[in-house]
Amino acid sequence: MNKKITLKTLQSMKGHEKIVMVTAYDALFASLFDENVDVILIGDSLNMTFGGQEDTLSITMDEMIYHAKAVCNGAKKSFLLLDMPFGTCGDKKQALKNATKAYKETKIDAVKIEGGKEKADIIKYLTDNEIAVCGHIGLKPQSARGEGGYSVKGKSEDEKKSIIEDALAIEAAGAVMIVIEGVKPDVASAVSSAVKIPTVGIGAGVDCDGQVLVWSDMLGLNDNFVPKFVKRYIDGSTIVKDAIKQYSNEVKKASFPNEQFTY
Ligand code: KIV
Repeated sequence: MNKKITLKTLQSMKGHEKIVMVTAYDALFASLFDENVDVILIGDSLNMTFGGQEDTLSITMDEMIYHAKAVCNGAKKSFLLLDMPFGTCGDKKQALKNATKAYKETKIDAVKIEGGKEKADIIKYLTDNEIAVCGHIGLKPQSARGEGGYSVKGKSEDEKKSIIEDALAIEAAGAVMIVIEGVKPDVASAVSSAVKIPTVGIGAGVDCDGQVLVWSDMLGLNDNFVPKFVKRYIDGSTIVKDAIKQYSNEVKKASFPNEQFTY
């Protein structure tokens, strides 16, 4: 069995080896991904891809913990990162209460909080209370409803400067890693050079210290959502639909189960 990936492992990879992160929401897929990735993210994107909701906002802490428990059961070696959902980190006390609950009830290694400088105090408070925190800057899906949709960030010099300030502020507050989403590649590159902690990009170009994708996107299972940054490594939706069609045909024709599949 491969050795468990720790914070130390991830931090030592910066500048030497890219960090591979993927989302998972259950034990089965976590166990399939575990061998070939460094980090499994129990992302609140599960509210959309798994729950069929329009955005990430309605998922609760208890629902995230339910999925985190499942992922922890399936993954043996990857570093496990849990998204703190919308409305659970409004202030320091609330954030500590929710993150502590996640630490106590699951075996996650760190939590991820969306936000930059405005969240620095909360990140420092959690860090001071022995909770490892990964930041999430650039495009923040939890802010998309308030902003009227999703848009690439860091297009102007002012926005770029502000994102770099976000990264430096959360690093100074004790963040152990940063996810950078939906930014121009020069922004991610500048952030990755400016901070000593690892950066993991999604829709942020190749210069980050690692990459993350949502599992159902990269396995081509979601025909309704194929943004430019998603590479579909297999055509999962066709593979699954073909298999179900074949099963259905065989059941209708009574050719399944034949002798081979009968006691
Ligand atoms: O929720 C999620 O899956 C995420 C990734 C998009 C980074 O935060």
